[in-house]
Amino acid sequence: MRALRYTDFGPADLLEVGEVAEPHPGAGQIRIAVRASGVTPADTALRSGRLGHRVPLPHVPGVDAAGVVDEIGEGVTGVRPGDEVFGIVDLRQLGGANADHAVLAAWAPKPAALSWEQAGGAAANAETATRALDLLQVGEGTTLLIAGAAGGVGTLAIQLAVARGAQVIGTAGPATQDFVAGLGATPVVYGEGLAERTGKVDAALHCAGAVADLVPIAGRVLTIADMSPPEGVQASFMADPTTFRQALHGLTDAAELAGKGLFTVPLAGVFPLEEGPAAHRLSETGHAHGKIVLVN
Ligand SMILES: NC(=O)c1ccc[n+]([C@@H]2O[C@H](COP(=O)([O-])OP(=O)(O)OC[C@H]3O[C@@H](n4cnc5c(N)ncnc54)[C@H](OP(=O)(O)O)[C@@H]3O)[C@@H](O)[C@H]2O)c1
Repeated sequence: MRALRYTDFGPADLLEVGEVAEPHPGAGQIRIAVRASGVTPADTALRSGRLGHRVPLPHVPGVDAAGVVDEIGEGVTGVRPGDEVFGIVDLRQLGGANADHAVLAAWAPKPAALSWEQAGGAAANAETATRALDLLQVGEGTTLLIAGAAGGVGTLAIQLAVARGAQVIGTAGPATQDFVAGLGATPVVYGEGLAERTGKVDAALHCAGAVADLVPIAGRVLTIADMSPPEGVQASFMADPTTFRQALHGLTDAAELAGKGLFTVPLAGVFPLEEGPAAHRLSETGHAHGKIVLVN
């Protein structure tokens, strides 16, 4: 099968489409014929070598995808070949989704309201945003600040928090204020003087910028982006084996809200699999607005 892959750690140019062996699902897993799959900052960090050489080479990046089920692993019930789903790979592999076929360890039915491109980039960020909102105890009446509201996680976190009855303030650059407002948050520009613009909030989700800036503003602060957070800041990482925890109800929550017209996946860029290098370069700008997706 075709897959986006790299055979050495380094710049995005090292990505190329090549032939790799087809994967098959283990117990509790399914395989899909991929229609679209996501690109995350973790994929680019891993490929660059910045996270160390944590995966065997060649490596196929991508942790989430949407497609049509074509193989079912032992013990799996409730899903059949031909079903349309979106989901997350086994995160111990740290990849495998940017390919013609991918094995999913967690999934939900693809809602008709999301296109293949949107569903392909939805699962990992819906899980992450939901895990963060759960840990921050975001609910009815919570005032939540999202730092990095225009990114892949932030755009979904805004909508999921609003659906819980929270008031959301989102930081973004001057050119991205309307985009963030359109998703249901009150936009504020990040940078110096942030506390004066936001006032005090109950909770803050840190996706971008300096997490220390959020500590004087929020009662509770959670980072998903800073691996060495200052005191008083909780951290949560999807693929961290020491704190391994996933909020998989985020997939079904997002799908249900999408069906009611209350959730969408804004797309920052859609690229054919062959243009994987361009997709990674867009992610590496740090200014993608929404989710970056590869289509098969
Ligand atoms: N812990 C986990 O489980 C987990 C899971 C997923 C992602 N992550 C991490 O979470 C972070 C966010 O992921 P993502 O996919 O949302 O990233 P992303 O899509 O690449 O985020 C890009 C966004 O960041 C905004 N931004 C850049 N600098 C900013 C600043 N100083 N203050 C506020 N916003 C700023 C940009 O808005 P403007 O263009 O308007 O500046 C842009 O929209 C990444 O570090 C990623 O690795 C962690």
